[in-house]
Amino acid sequence: MTQFDRNFLWGSASAAYQIEGAVAADGKGESVWDVWAHLEGKTHEGTNGDIATDHYNRYEEDVALMKKAGLKAYRFSISWTRILPNGTGIVNSEGINFYNRLINLLIENDIQPLVTLYHWDLPQTLQTKYLGWESEQIVHDFTAYAKICFKAFGDRVKYWIVMNEPNIFTHLGYIMGVHPPGKHDEALFLKTYHHTALAHAHTVLAYKEMGLEGQIGSSIAFTPAYSSTSSEADQGALKSYYDIGPWWYLDSYYKGSYPESAIEYYTSQNIEMPFKKADFEIMKAAAEVVDFIGINYYQTAMVAYNPIDGVGISSFNTTGKKGTQKESGIPGLYKTVKNPNIEYTDWDWAIDPDGLRYGLVELKARYDLPILISENGLGAFDTVSSDGAINDDYRIDFLRAHIEACGNAINEGVDLLGYMTWSFTDLLSWLNGFKKRYGFVYVDFESTDLKRIPKKSFYWYREVIKTNGEAL
Ligand code: BG6
Repeated sequence: MTQFDRNFLWGSASAAYQIEGAVAADGKGESVWDVWAHLEGKTHEGTNGDIATDHYNRYEEDVALMKKAGLKAYRFSISWTRILPNGTGIVNSEGINFYNRLINLLIENDIQPLVTLYHWDLPQTLQTKYLGWESEQIVHDFTAYAKICFKAFGDRVKYWIVMNEPNIFTHLGYIMGVHPPGKHDEALFLKTYHHTALAHAHTVLAYKEMGLEGQIGSSIAFTPAYSSTSSEADQGALKSYYDIGPWWYLDSYYKGSYPESAIEYYTSQNIEMPFKKADFEIMKAAAEVVDFIGINYYQTAMVAYNPIDGVGISSFNTTGKKGTQKESGIPGLYKTVKNPNIEYTDWDWAIDPDGLRYGLVELKARYDLPILISENGLGAFDTVSSDGAINDDYRIDFLRAHIEACGNAINEGVDLLGYMTWSFTDLLSWLNGFKKRYGFVYVDFESTDLKRIPKKSFYWYREVIKTNGEAL
């Protein structure tokens, strides 16, 4: 049995656009998501975050529920345009006040605030002015915004997550074209990703220069993988998958370099590399002082060789109709295939708790840094039974197995800081709407009062926290 450290951060996570609502309240500026979600056909069932869970107006009720659940930590993101409505320039004091109220209330309730600086809601002004992440100017502007947050909240916030899943928002925005700005361009994908790595590095260094007491890192969406067979072709596919995928994303943040074999691959495709030599000095300097790796873990992948005339990137299941996800890959290198050994969710995400242990052990071997699980959870259709209860035993089973996997990873030497479930309340899923629910607290999106109802998993997690992981 695993002994979780007594300071282990048991918590839950959220993101501003997915919960806050109040999109134009108190001087908030427009973000790219405020615009994108209102374009015809961009989101599932035309959903948007204009109201979401209305957390901006109901944060007191939400924090009271967190207290009731006994959360030790709560991860949320700051909306850049509440602080700087145009991305740069004049600070909106009402935005600062809101996050001060939230942070203070969390601390009063013994809940450690974990703050994400960027969870995808780029100021629209910067997109219009210089195409946002496509321009290196963003690195400067992002770092300036981060410093404002450090100055305003850094006396009380001890854990900072600079970027949330830079690999996902650049891939969805510049390869798949399903997130803003809706482009399909591999070179731009590499360029924008590189700018996120630079923004992360400059921000980490700025934080350290300010001498504040706390820890800083970024959260990468990490999907560990297995090869479908032990054939040389499939093993080679697995190596390509890692070098072009997880190691590309993580090495740049946590080693200050990119895998050589992936650089060779892109160069062979005549794709221009976006970096300058001097960039690596900054990235390496940050990698030396960064405190932890954040990972968002949902699933593993199974990878097989993909012939040159094989499948390309395909769209994914956003409806919750199980079995509609198609194979996807890079011709000539690899493709992801269905893993016959495990179950899938209704959105065709592989349920693989041991993959979390395996992934954590891989990260420990490659980077040897403390790790924070900044997201893990199950998206499901929940129903309210006639007695008003939400009996989400499937979510309890999912989380229990993943917490056991954390324990196993700790037993194998992984230094795990904490475990944030995704999410505390139900919230808006960017592309899947309101019906894909993740929370411990049900939100009745059908009613105007957005009533909160704790689910069965809420009470279960409370016991887990109370017993420091013993009562699973
Ligand atoms: C992560 C994001 O990708 O996964 C969250 O950081 C997101 O913002 C979560 O909501 C679950 O994804 P989805 O697509 O099911 O909402």
